[in-house]
Amino acid sequence: MSGEWNRLWQQKLNPFGLKLLEDAEKTALRMMVRNLDDNASILDVGCGTGRSLAKIFGLFKDAKGVDYSDVSVQLCKEKGLNVSLEDARNLPLKDDSVDLVFSEGLLEHYGDMEPLVKEMCRVSKKYVLLVQPNLDSKARKVRDLYWRVTGRLYAEELPYKVVDYVAMFRKFGFDVAEADNTILFHVLLFKVRV
Ligand SMILES: C[S@@+](CC[C@H](N)C(=O)[O-])C[C@H]1O[C@@H](n2cnc3c(N)ncnc32)[C@H](O)[C@@H]1O
Repeated sequence: MSGEWNRLWQQKLNPFGLKLLEDAEKTALRMMVRNLDDNASILDVGCGTGRSLAKIFGLFKDAKGVDYSDVSVQLCKEKGLNVSLEDARNLPLKDDSVDLVFSEGLLEHYGDMEPLVKEMCRVSKKYVLLVQPNLDSKARKVRDLYWRVTGRLYAEELPYKVVDYVAMFRKFGFDVAEADNTILFHVLLFKVRV
């Protein structure tokens, strides 16, 4: 599957799609800033080409990313980002070693998201922040149709709802602390249960 992502990352996003993604990322960054000090450690899991990671790094200097696509890791390195080639199901990190795990557009590609969620919750001391597709969005249906008609390569997305993420994180001791929606995405902040 990492080979599939290598091919996908050779395509460019159109400006409108990018704008909608950036709206979700701004919402996520606001949640981070509201809840963390500047010196907090952040791990971007499935960081892709580092679009969000670069913005996170602009606010939190202790920000790193992992991805299992060597093309994306190389693109991140060219941007000067701190990244490594890892499988998110088996992170080489100690338990509770980062303040916040961030993940955008990863879980919906897995029929079984549990190994990924378990690992995110294991390495996070306090928060996990997700940006996930908003399936109720009409704009998303239009975008998907546009992608099909124009022959864009895209990875399959499973139809998870917010309740599915909530139930899965609850299993590993994290509950929803904040939630917001943008045109294409849900932004969900989970906090460890005390
Ligand atoms: C939809 S992209 C999202 C990338 C980035 N977060 C963004 O929003 O632009 C999903 C990314 O997750 C990575 N990925 C998928 N499964 C992974 C795994 N098991 N371990 C690490 N990275 C993974 C893919 O290589 C891809 O770069």
